[in-house]
Amino acid sequence: MTPLSRRALLAGAGAALAASPGPARADALSTSAGLHDHALRSGRFYGAAIDQTILATNPTYMAHVPVECGVVVSEAAFKWGRLRPAPELFYFAPADALMRYAEQHALALRGHTLVWHEDNPPWLAERLTSAAAAERLLTTHIRTVVRHFRGHVFQWDVVNEVLWLPDRQPLGLRDTLWLRALGPRYIDLAFHLCAETDPGAMRFINEFGLDYSWPDQQRKRAAMLSLLADLRHRGVPVQGLGMQAHLEAGVHALDQKELAQFCADVAALGLNIVITEMDVRDNRLPAAIPVRDAGVAAEGRAFLEVVLESPALLGVVTWGLSDLRTWLDEAWPRTDGLPQRPLPLDREMRRKPLWEAMAATFDAALPLQK
Ligand code: XIL
Repeated sequence: MTPLSRRALLAGAGAALAASPGPARADALSTSAGLHDHALRSGRFYGAAIDQTILATNPTYMAHVPVECGVVVSEAAFKWGRLRPAPELFYFAPADALMRYAEQHALALRGHTLVWHEDNPPWLAERLTSAAAAERLLTTHIRTVVRHFRGHVFQWDVVNEVLWLPDRQPLGLRDTLWLRALGPRYIDLAFHLCAETDPGAMRFINEFGLDYSWPDQQRKRAAMLSLLADLRHRGVPVQGLGMQAHLEAGVHALDQKELAQFCADVAALGLNIVITEMDVRDNRLPAAIPVRDAGVAAEGRAFLEVVLESPALLGVVTWGLSDLRTWLDEAWPRTDGLPQRPLPLDREMRRKPLWEAMAATFDAALPLQK
């Protein structure tokens, strides 16, 4: 099976992924080519995750988004924890704010995420009292949310981080409230519901820890390939793998041949790939900024060189655009307390060596087949 045609898959993205930048992009801060323009040269896209507070309060940051990006995704506004303050209540305001921003600036919008084991409202676990109750809850959620964003979201991370081999569950699945309530079929249900509610949006399974040649990540890649093969064999409408790509500078564990083989194995299943959350932790590197920026750029380049060789790779999204806001300072802070520098722009919105490395690897990529 060959990957679904790129044109068919990106059809829903509208002007944002057109061959030339839309009007909103041309009159933005700078007329110099942004990362999305570099990605477009091989028929791919570049985007970034946007924090809802940055969107609401930092116009300087947001002025750079249309210059660099063709795609945006919300860090948290599309998750149960924000959308569902109460069982009978959907709160779309923060997510709608990003949807409106994307429309105003001719940007495509990714939806992240319909099912995750984290960031769920406290009432959810209490309501999962039976398989029937769980199915009703999941069905109502996905139908309501996907319908609300139908025609606006061009790609959904339908399920997020469903694998965790240490939980020793079938297929290496993570022991989550959805697995306990419905068994592995919760994944099938989520994909079918998304496909029937918005057939025009591309559907991804999104996962971290697939990047390095450490034994646990090698086992996780094998488990992901088995899961994807099983889903495809049973006609579950998954169309792509989202590789989060939370990379680490200074670990020297990127085996480019192994990573290339994994991408080829995913493509052989007829699936496409998006790098959905790329950033490069520098918390293992010394404090000196030139050292950190060089290490981050080298790791980003080594990873992108490989994945951009894959005809299945449709685009790259970084989990933030500027170091001014990165979840890594909460999740893996540096021991010296310095803010990390994992993203293409620095805290003053200036392009960094990682930006240069990304632009160069985008430019060197072979064009995608139409
Ligand atoms: C993170 C957000 O960036 C944070 O703002 C939030 O507090 C927690 O979630 N993998 C994912 C993302 O799939 O949803 C996570 O985003 C980062 C790790």
